[in-house]
Amino acid sequence: MNKQLRTAIIAGNWKMNKTPSQTKELLEQIAPLTKDAKCEVIACVPFVDLQTALDATKDTNIKIGAENCHWEESGAFTGEISAVMLKEMGIKYVIIGHSERRQYFGETDLTVNKRIRAALNNGLKVILCVGELKEQREQNITAEIVSMQTKIALMGISEAEMKNIIIAYEPVWAIGTGLTATADQAQEVCKIIRDVIASMYNQDIANATTIQYGGSMNDKNADELLSKEDVDGGLIGGASLIAEKFAAIVKAADNN
Ligand code: PGA
Repeated sequence: MNKQLRTAIIAGNWKMNKTPSQTKELLEQIAPLTKDAKCEVIACVPFVDLQTALDATKDTNIKIGAENCHWEESGAFTGEISAVMLKEMGIKYVIIGHSERRQYFGETDLTVNKRIRAALNNGLKVILCVGELKEQREQNITAEIVSMQTKIALMGISEAEMKNIIIAYEPVWAIGTGLTATADQAQEVCKIIRDVIASMYNQDIANATTIQYGGSMNDKNADELLSKEDVDGGLIGGASLIAEKFAAIVKAADNN
């Protein structure tokens, strides 16, 4: 069993939800419920909420992350935010390659790779999202798709940098749909990702990499998903917006 070698991480992905005042309110609800967590607890929030979130979690164990960053340090990229900007704010985590970015904002495996490099160069830890579409699962090409996404995303990332990479397996058909992958499906693909890392780096790095599941994870199904050997945590959308549900998932991670 190598699960104990890895940090369990439960991260909320708030997406385009919560204003600054609502952010303060929600984090103040979550903080007392998760204060004794053994696992790492992260809230990834919209850019405009980051400062409020940092202030609201100053004396807590909750870490704050952004939901994306650009690959250049600065320049003519209207609407984008750079890793340098996040770093100066004191942000420690960033989600990169979320399927909604890929689906709606033209994100590709290559731009995901560029963004990851920029994040790492600025000392941020990355939550890299990979996952297959429904049609791809039906075509039985989940392993190929997820392996390719992982390999391209990690191009040029050194062994030493891998300690700053967290991978979230998020089947696109399970995101926000209420359709969760079964625990066995989640385990199967998380293991495939771990094997890809072993083939790109080595088994020790693969064993040390935290691999989360994401896609309609909630207070009801978290325990079973997190009991699986290769599922080390969760990236939580909808359920991260309700303090009690998010806290229950954190508890499930601590119990596994
Ligand atoms: P969901 O989102 O939990 O609402 O399915 C997960 C995610 O997109 O990270």
